[in-house]
Order: sequence, then C-alpha cells, then structure tokens
Amino acid sequence: MTVAVRQWPAEGVARVPYWVYSDRDLFADEQARVFRGPTWNFLCLEAELPKPNTYRTSAVGAMPVVVTRDNDGKLSAFENRCAHRGSLLCINERGEARDIVCVYHNWSYDLAGNLTAVAFRKGMGGKGGMPADARPDENPPRKLRVETLCGLVFGTLDSNTPPLEAYLGPEIVKGIRRVMRAPVRVLGGYSQMLASNWKLYMENVKDSYHASLLHTFFTTFRLNRLTQKGGLVISETGGNHISYSFAADTGGKEYEKAGMRAAQEGFGLEAPEVLAHVDEYGDGIGLQILSVFPTFVLQQTRNSLAVRRLVTHGLEKTELVWTIFGFTDDDEAMTERRMRQANLIGPAGYISMEDGAAPGFVQRAVNSASDVLSVVEMGGRGITSDDTRVTEAAVRGFWTFYRAQMGF
Ligand code: FES
Ligand SMILES: [Fe+2]
Repeated sequence: MTVAVRQWPAEGVARVPYWVYSDRDLFADEQARVFRGPTWNFLCLEAELPKPNTYRTSAVGAMPVVVTRDNDGKLSAFENRCAHRGSLLCINERGEARDIVCVYHNWSYDLAGNLTAVAFRKGMGGKGGMPADARPDENPPRKLRVETLCGLVFGTLDSNTPPLEAYLGPEIVKGIRRVMRAPVRVLGGYSQMLASNWKLYMENVKDSYHASLLHTFFTTFRLNRLTQKGGLVISETGGNHISYSFAADTGGKEYEKAGMRAAQEGFGLEAPEVLAHVDEYGDGIGLQILSVFPTFVLQQTRNSLAVRRLVTHGLEKTELVWTIFGFTDDDEAMTERRMRQANLIGPAGYISMEDGAAPGFVQRAVNSASDVLSVVEMGGRGITSDDTRVTEAAVRGFWTFYRAQMGF
C-alpha cells in the first residue's frame, strides 16, 4: 500500500476504508502520531503499585514502559529500555525495587528512570572502560508525563498533550468518578492475544449497536437489550465515550419475534447466581462501558468491574490486558459477587469471548479489500451524544479523533 492511498473517503467518518487495518506503514506512523503523540495512555491502576519502591510494567502502543512508585510515594513512568544496548530494564510484570538494574551489563537507574551507575565505567586495573568524554546517558529511556484520576494512572510522551481532565472532557470524568467510587482493591487479571488490528477492538468497544445482536448471553438472559433504556455519551473531541443501559427491562419479546440469533428461547442457567447483582451505585445503571482514546476501557457490567488496555504487538497482533477489581470497602459477599460475575468477561467470558473474536472475523475478511469502504451510518453521520444505542456515533467519534491525530 502506498502513501497515496491514504485519502479518507469524501463521505467522512460515515465510511471507513479497510486499508486502515492492513497498511504496514500506517502501523509505524500510528506509533509516532497516536501513541507517542499528544494522547493520554492508560498505564495501570495505582493499586497495582501499593507500596513505596514498587514497579509495574506496562506499554504505550508497542513501546514497553515501567511505572514506578518511589520511596516518597511519587509515581513515575519511563520507557522500559536500557540506555546502553537497549535491553528491557524490568523483565517481570511487577516487583519491589529501590533502584532498577539492567540484567545485561548491570547499568543502574533510579526509580525516575535516571541512569545512576555504569558497571566498570573506568575499566579494571587501569584498562578498558569508557573514554573520559563518553556520555553513557545520551539515549536514555524516554520519560512520560504522568497524571492520575481516581486511581487510574495515565502517561503521555508528548509535551503538548492537554491536562488529563481536559483531554477526557467533563462527562467522561464524571463517568470515571461514578465507577471509581472508593479506593481500589485488585482482584486479578489476565491477558489475551487478539488476531486483529488494535483499532478493530476499539471500534467494537465503541459499537453499542452490536451488543444485543452479537452477544447471545446478553440478550437471552436480558442483561442488555435495546428495550432497556440507555444511551451514548461522546466527548466533544469524539475520542472518548460512554455507553450505558439501565438494568430494568420491559420483558418484551421483540428479539424473539424478529428471530434474532442472540435471543435464545428455552435456555436457563444451572447457576443463576452468576447473574445475582446489587445496584451498588444506586442509579439503576446495569452496564457502563467507557473508553478513552486510544486504548483504554473502563467497564461496569453489573458488579463486575475491570480496566482494559491494549498493547499493539503488530499490525494484526494485539494484546488485551484485563485487570479486574473491587474496592477496599467491599465485604466478602461483594467480592464473591464480583468474582462470579467476572465469568462474563475476559478471554473466555460468556460475553467478552465474542468481542475477542469479532475483530478477527473482520481482519480476515478485509485484508484483501483494502480499497473497499465499510458503512458506519447507524444513528446518522454525526458524533453527538444520544439516548439510544442503535447508533454507531461513538465509532464515528473514534475516527474523527483518529484522523485529527494522523493528519488525514
Ligand atoms: S543493555 Fe542494559 S546494561 Fe547493557
Ligand atoms: Fe461486545
């Protein structure tokens, strides 16, 4: 694919060209313009760095990153790459450390990512070592600016990125504050490899139209139908969104009458307690999916809470990292409830399994259709918030912001 093909169709974001999922040069450009550009990338939960002198590895796009909490409790984040020959600095996912020592040749760093010592810098016995005018820290690990909101840690590499709350927009900040109502307790996590481009997964997250049509479990057990009231909130930039629905359902048979695959009749659950939930936020909202450009998702499915982030290993290879959590004030019954409902999510979840698969179905079909366009016209052609979920407005919002970052 040549650069000349990078023309966005005249229809605007109501059409998406398939080359965006299969162009190798584009993948490299995205690393610079989106991930290392003026965006806030979710790194981890503050609760994953519970004590001073701890670290947690993460990523910004394809770039490996280390997040640290120093002796004074201050958070830092920097590229997980040694200034010497480029080895990963932290190999483990998390750990405790007062300083970070590269395993390859023992160069040492403080928890802010500054090089502090070079092994045998002056050689041994007057021989070897570095020249007197050497600058071993000429190419140090790149440092990220870090901001936190309600226990979520975000980082950016670009000095022009606006402050985090301005980047999110007021409605998204409100949606984050709603879910993150207390100090977090991490319950566990897992990651899965998606055989698709990262943007296909983010489109799936923002696509409120598919939920009750793709997910048999959602519809059959009335967790999410379009008969339940709900809507879509889209940030002014288009890049961030919330889709929500109320738990209460009319009990109507619209899906069954229309013969929709997702509504299976005559099925019950051997363990109905998997769906037992309480209205912990007191607002009747049973489902809230929130996303922040480029690759952050905050999920409330009844009492199942999780953060998700993507690592872009390659054009068609994307890692989806889940961290499931509750709050430090949860009682045992609530923790049990959250864990049981977590059966709905993750790589083999009753719902989320299909979200891992659908982007791969698209990838396989469109690799040989790079000059063809997809149709994104549910709910019109705009990107405004709405009180319906039969809309692809948040998908169009994603492409609006993406195009602004990429310059086309
Ligand atoms: S690569 Fe890290 S010390 Fe050599
Ligand atoms: Fe889905």
